[in-house]
Amino acid sequence: MLPSGTLFRMNNALQLAEINARWVRDCTCTLKESATQAVPGDGNANAQILFIGEAPGKSEDIDGRPFVGAAGKFLNEMLATIDLKREDVYITNVVKYRPPDNRDPLPEEVAACAPWLAEQVALIDPTLIVLLGRHALERFFPEEKISLVHGTILQKKMGDLDTRNFYALYHPAAALYNGGMRGVLLEDFKKIPGVLKHLEATRD
Ligand code: URA
Repeated sequence: MLPSGTLFRMNNALQLAEINARWVRDCTCTLKESATQAVPGDGNANAQILFIGEAPGKSEDIDGRPFVGAAGKFLNEMLATIDLKREDVYITNVVKYRPPDNRDPLPEEVAACAPWLAEQVALIDPTLIVLLGRHALERFFPEEKISLVHGTILQKKMGDLDTRNFYALYHPAAALYNGGMRGVLLEDFKKIPGVLKHLEATRD
C-alpha cells in the first residue's frame, strides 16, 4: 500500500509535466526562434510556495532550468536560511524563453507565455506566490512599485481561480551586488515562513 496522499502527489507531478510538454510544443512566443530551448520550471508540483522570476538568462537557456546562474545560487542560499531546498518549492518565470542579450521581455512575449504560467499556478495551487523582482510584480500588479510593496502580502483574483496571495521581493540578481538591497531582500526572505503560517491560519 502506498502512503495516503502519494498518488495525489505523483498525479500532480505527471500533470505538470504534461502541461509543460504541451506548452513547449504549442507556445507562440517569438523568443522561441532565438532561444536555445524553453525553460518551463523546476521543483515540486505540490509546493506551498511558487517563485516567479522574469525570464531565463544565459545559464538557464543552456541548462533548461530556471535560476541556475549566479542569481539562482543566491536564491538557493536564501532558501537554505529558511530550511528549504529547491525541491521543496516550484520555480518558474513569467517568460519561458531567454530574451536576446537579456533585454526586458516585450508585452507580447509576456502575453504569449501568460496562459502557460496560469496553468502552472492552477495546478500547483500554492499557498503563496513569491514574485522575484519588478518585472514579475508588474505582470500581476502593474500599478505597484517594488520599492513600496516588497516584503508585503498582496492579493489578487486570478481569472477563474480564487484570490491568490502574493509576496514581492527584490530580484536576487539586482540585490546580489547591491549591499542595501541585498540586506532588505534577506530580511524580506526570512519573513516567508511567518507569512505562510499566517496565510494557513487565516485560510477559510
Ligand atoms: N533571472 C530570472 O528572472 N529568471 C531566471 O531563471 C534566472 C535569472
